[in-house]
Amino acid sequence: MKPDMRVQLCGLELVNPVIAASGTFGYGVEFEDIVTFRRIGGMVTKGISREPMAGNRAPRLIETAAGMINAIGLQNVGVERFLAGKLPPLRRYPTCAVIVNVFGYQPEDYVAVIARLNQAEGIAAYELNASCPNTRHGGLSFGSDPAMLAELVNAAKKEATRPLIVKLSPNVTSIPAVAKAAEDAGADALSLVNTFVALSIDVETRRPRLANVTGGLSGPAIKPIAVRMVWEAAKAVKIPVIGMGGITTAEDAVEFLLAGATAVQVGTASYADPRATERLARDLEQWCARHHVQQVGSLSGALDLTPPSPPAK
Ligand SMILES: Cc1cc2nc3c(=O)[nH]c(=O)nc-3n(C[C@H](O)[C@H](O)[C@H](O)COP(=O)(O)O)c2cc1C
Repeated sequence: MKPDMRVQLCGLELVNPVIAASGTFGYGVEFEDIVTFRRIGGMVTKGISREPMAGNRAPRLIETAAGMINAIGLQNVGVERFLAGKLPPLRRYPTCAVIVNVFGYQPEDYVAVIARLNQAEGIAAYELNASCPNTRHGGLSFGSDPAMLAELVNAAKKEATRPLIVKLSPNVTSIPAVAKAAEDAGADALSLVNTFVALSIDVETRRPRLANVTGGLSGPAIKPIAVRMVWEAAKAVKIPVIGMGGITTAEDAVEFLLAGATAVQVGTASYADPRATERLARDLEQWCARHHVQQVGSLSGALDLTPPSPPAK
């Protein structure tokens, strides 16, 4: 029997739990000749701001052992050009949930973008990027402080006419504290993790390898930390959690589901293989069939904490 791959996520029904992650799938439309959109659960757009942004100076992206560090600097066309040119073609794929990633430097920026997006058709949900620097608070990331995060989520929730997913920064001491703050302030779901702040140095020149000095680490290198954080977040809240960080295989996705995620996002893997999202959705279905899992949703939070058996002598 074919497994049932559908999942329910804050009022949305996804055809399967595999979603393309923000910043690694363009505005979606760039992938329409590469990925069969009806075979993936959804896609998250590049982060959208009030005004267009040029991003950081190059080099902005480098490879590391089992991952990469990026300092793209949230380059995007701004909400008006997104609505006029990028969103309309996506309406051709009604079964693929279009989630718009939103960012700003003050809560009012986020609210202004959401207010404008509310007027458009063809958007399933919003994802707030809480890893952005809050310019009113000395550039500290919104997501690094529960009170600042609560203020942002509160303001966004009041404006949003669609489900609000809050994307947490992993650069915090306590994931349960920020997860709970986002839930209490009205988040409909959480997604995590965003990238880890990182630094790579060219020892020949003794200079940083990125023009921005630091950047965000993603890819397989971060996966075990991300799985642990998803597990902690899922235990701390009642709302659904979307897991991500280094997923490249179906087994990676299953780890996040067992840790408590309802759905997963795939980011850096699309750089190595632009069809990674579609491949993962297919492989996950085959994994479920092989393991006699009739409903993919039954994997969520099914981690068995019995200690593993010691290795055979
Ligand atoms: C080049 C690049 C750009 C990204 N841009 C965004 C962004 O605009 N907004 C956001 O919330 N996350 C952004 N991310 C973070 C990813 O969506 C994801 O959270 C992170 O890369 C971890 O998943 P992965 O290891 O599967 O890539 C970006 C990641 C990369 C690699």
